[in-house]
Parts: sequence; structure tokens; C-alpha cells
Amino acid sequence: MKILITGGAGFIGSNFIHYWMKKYSQDEIVNLDKLTYAGNLSNLRIVENLPNYHFIKGDITDKKLLEKLFKKENFDLIVHFAAESHVDRSITDPDIFLKTNILGTHNLLCMALKNRTRFHHVSTDEVFGSLKKNDPAFNEKTPYDPRSPYSASKAASDHLVRAYFHTYELPITISNCSNNYGPFHFPEKLFPLFITNLLENKKIPLYGDGEAVRDWLYVEDHCRAIDTIIKKGKIGETYCIGGNSEKSNKEVTYKILALLDKNEKMIEFVKDRPGHDQRYAIDFSKIKNELGWEPSVSFEDGIKKTIDWFSTNKAWWKSIKNGKYKEYYDKQYANH
Ligand SMILES: NC(=O)c1ccc[n+]([C@@H]2O[C@H](COP(=O)([O-])OP(=O)(O)OC[C@H]3O[C@@H](n4cnc5c(N)ncnc54)[C@H](O)[C@@H]3O)[C@@H](O)[C@H]2O)c1
Repeated sequence: MKILITGGAGFIGSNFIHYWMKKYSQDEIVNLDKLTYAGNLSNLRIVENLPNYHFIKGDITDKKLLEKLFKKENFDLIVHFAAESHVDRSITDPDIFLKTNILGTHNLLCMALKNRTRFHHVSTDEVFGSLKKNDPAFNEKTPYDPRSPYSASKAASDHLVRAYFHTYELPITISNCSNNYGPFHFPEKLFPLFITNLLENKKIPLYGDGEAVRDWLYVEDHCRAIDTIIKKGKIGETYCIGGNSEKSNKEVTYKILALLDKNEKMIEFVKDRPGHDQRYAIDFSKIKNELGWEPSVSFEDGIKKTIDWFSTNKAWWKSIKNGKYKEYYDKQYANH
């Protein structure tokens, strides 16, 4: 099978490439990635010289490039990860979110349609909005209610993918997943930011009162869920993926502090982000009952594995933190 993976140099995309190439070593993978600040080819060192792995630096908003690529290659499957993915960045600079997440997805759908290529769209639970403390968890029937430019752009992309199924019978599936954590996580998100700051004995910036609740899933479990949907999912369907691990940011923070033998003096409370969603939770009974997937890594084990990975891969994250990312980080947390 020949697979086009978009955004394969990012956090989840690179984990997915490692997962897939280990499990289906006969398949051929083409990784198309623009290499934005979040794309990092050093995530792919282990596979970069394999004859069945190819990297193309390119932008999914570049229609000409896509036309050329699809003329040359005949893909059996597209797994679409490429996106602008950081909520904070979408608040300060929404334009690129609309361009990449909406127009970029649309370009890929047009290409898929020409060749009737099977298309899996990787999306987020943030499209469903925010829950109150005792609200039932999100499921596939929850109405969309995105609240940040990021989640609004992902919601629009989900609608387009579904529209291509209903209008043109393009063979698609969609997954909406909760927050991931694990290896190769870019150190601007909570888990890697806190772990790497603490490994450097630096303070950790916690938003607001730290009571925002997220459901956490170890990234390899997400990759296995996407694999399950690709192999066994029903065409045209959406599947919610969750970790069964609802935790407040404060709980996660205290867990990381304890595992790294640090105390709460390392916490620096910073002003909350505008429109910060209070709670996300996922009911993943559809994928569990229909396709037999459920998370296999507990939060306890996942967080230990993640801390181990960041402790043994210091060169990976230090090079990111010393580079351009640093300018963004200084601006983002200035005046707190
Ligand atoms: N991180 C999470 O917790 C999470 C949870 C659920 C769903 N998702 C979704 O999974 C996907 C991957 O998320 P991630 O956390 O790995 O993101 P990421 O930001 O780490 O990686 C995104 C990748 O896409 C590439 N990219 C960005 N714009 C591009 C463009 N115009 N053309 C080609 N490549 C481009 C970047 O270079 C980067 O390699 C996204 O669609 C995101 O919405 C993420």
C-alpha cells in the first residue's frame, strides 16, 4: 500500500510514521510536510534512510505542488495530520489557521476525489466546545461548538471532509481525539513544556487557577486508534477517541512535579488564555464497541514513559528550545 501522510514531521504524525513502519514494513510512505516551527525532521531519523520512506517538503495550500505530486504518485490512502495546531498561536495569528486547516484540507480533498483515494482526517475534540463539570462527555453526536480560531478551523475542515462523503461519496473517515502526550511533543504544550522546564530547573507557567480539565491519551494509543479506523472503520463515519483520563491541569502539574522530585514553588501562575475552555471529556464507546479499540497505556504509565523519553532525549528538545521557538516563548509569557 502507498500512503500519503501529511504533517508527518509533527508530534502525532511522526509517532504515526514510526508506528506504521514498524507494523506494516512492506508499505510505502510519502511524508508531505511544510516544516513549520512545529515540523522537525529529527523526529524521523530512524526511518529517513529506509527505501520505502520518502519526505517531500511542501505546503498543502500549494495546489500546483499537490497536482504534480498526485500526477506522479498513485496513493491508496491519505492520512491527514497537517495543521496549525496550537490554540495560543491561533489567538494571536488566526489567518494561517484558516489557510492551512481549511483551504489546505480542501485542496487535499480535491486531489483525493480525482483519484477516489481513501482519506482519513485527523481531528480534535476541541470542535465540540467546552463542558461544564457534570456535563456528559462528548460523543459523535455532540453538536459542534468551537470556541477558538484553532478549533473553528478544525471544525470547518471536518465539515468539508464529511461534505465530500455525502456529495461525492469520497471514501472518508474522521477521528476526533482528546489531548495527546508522549515522545516528540513540541515543547510549547503543557506536558513537554513543564517536563523540560523542570529538567532545566526552570519555573513552569500554569494558566489561571489550573482547574481546566483535559482528557489525556498516550500518543501511541492514538496511532493505534487511527490504524483501527483505517482497517476496520465504516466509510463516512466519525469516531471519537479518548484516554479515559480526565485530569485538571493542576493535577497533571503536581504529578509531573512529584515524578521529577520538585515542589510547588516551581509553579508560576500566569494570566489565563482568552476563552479558555473549561473541560473536555470523550465518550469513546463507539470505537470500543464497534471496532474493539480502547486505550492500552494508563495515565500513570504514560506520564512515566514520557518523562523517561524527555530525560533521555535532551539533545532533541534543547535544540528546539534554544532556537527560534525561544523568541515566541519569551513573547508569549512576557508581562506575567
Ligand atoms: N496534539 C494533540 O493533542 C491533538 C489532539 C487531537 C487531534 N490533533 C490533530 O492532530 C494533527 C496533528 O497534531 P500535532 O499535535 O502532531 O501537530 P503539530 O503542530 O505537532 O504538527 C503539525 C505538522 O503539520 C505541518 N504543517 C503545518 N502546516 C502545514 C502545511 N500548510 N502544509 C504541510 N504541512 C504543514 C507542520 O510542519 C508539522 O509538522 C492536527 O491535525 C491536530 O489538529 C492533535
